[in-house]
Amino acid sequence: MSAEIFAKVKQVIEEIESAIPQDVDQLEKFRIRFLGSKNIIKPMMGEIRNIANEQKREFGQLVNSAKQIAEQKFQNLKSAVESAAESAKAQDIDLTAPAEPLALGARHPISITMNRIVDIFSRIGFTVAEEREIEDDWYNFTAMNTPENHPARDMQDTYYLKGSAETLLRTHTSSVQARVMTTQQPPIRIIAPGRVYRNETVSARSHCQFHQIEGLYVDENVSFADLKQTLLYFAKEMYGPETKIRLRPSFFPFTEPSAEMDVYMGTADEKSYRLTKGTGWLEVLGCGMVDPQVLTNCGIDAEKYTGFAFGIGIERSAMQFYDISDIRLLFENDVRFLDQFKSAL
Ligand code: DAH
Repeated sequence: MSAEIFAKVKQVIEEIESAIPQDVDQLEKFRIRFLGSKNIIKPMMGEIRNIANEQKREFGQLVNSAKQIAEQKFQNLKSAVESAAESAKAQDIDLTAPAEPLALGARHPISITMNRIVDIFSRIGFTVAEEREIEDDWYNFTAMNTPENHPARDMQDTYYLKGSAETLLRTHTSSVQARVMTTQQPPIRIIAPGRVYRNETVSARSHCQFHQIEGLYVDENVSFADLKQTLLYFAKEMYGPETKIRLRPSFFPFTEPSAEMDVYMGTADEKSYRLTKGTGWLEVLGCGMVDPQVLTNCGIDAEKYTGFAFGIGIERSAMQFYDISDIRLLFENDVRFLDQFKSAL
């Protein structure tokens, strides 16, 4: 009698050991049969009363081991079946499906234009100098030879910081000239791109913030011919190899002599006609020989060194290149506007 019952348990153990559930369903059947609330091992424990006393202990251990084997096997199979299900799912991925589109940003037309100009001057040895937008009156005006009563200093044009007569938002990148010349000795060859501010009424043609690129070259024997050659090189790189320029005498407090450079656009197409007000000439920059007084103000020996400087307005060029009719569009950050420059470098 005992031997028969023992054999029954051993048979169940064999069954457990040889079972190979292949999927989640088969594994669940395994669990119900050997570990569920009505499993086939449980009633076997009841058979212990039919076992001879001296074998009861051995029998109990055997039934318990059946339970443990089933439990152990279930745990192992469970992780195997689950990871198989995972990898089956992974195989469902369609490797030929097109990738999720990557949203590409766009550069601002002002940045594109500034980068182009910086690039042109870097090729002939100018390095970039960047300086603060909140500036001391001295660097923006006094050092740059702009007298106390000069109209450019008028509260109408300049944004002073609240409660200060000394601290302002720079009105031009020429302040960078003073910053560089007070900290470096010649040879100096820099370009300074940046944002400037003036208290002007905002309209389609003018804004209270805009961008300039300042250029400064100070060394021994720098002449007006060097300035002209440099600007001609710039104009040809920027507007095409056939470009013609003209220099008109002008006035700036920090240069002597001073000039303004125009680029010839012609009047053939309507856009050029409109842009040049019918003259064919587009004003691009102000320039001149650095006034010796400015060199002296900044601690540079004006007997030994001469220099030239120029200031290029960015907005007008950007608007001309990209056919933008209203300057305000450049500062509104409307993505519908900015999206249009996605393909530009
Ligand atoms: N700072 C001048 C302006 O904002 C532009 C300018 C003119 C810069 C002549 C220069 C220069 O460096 O030489 O209108």
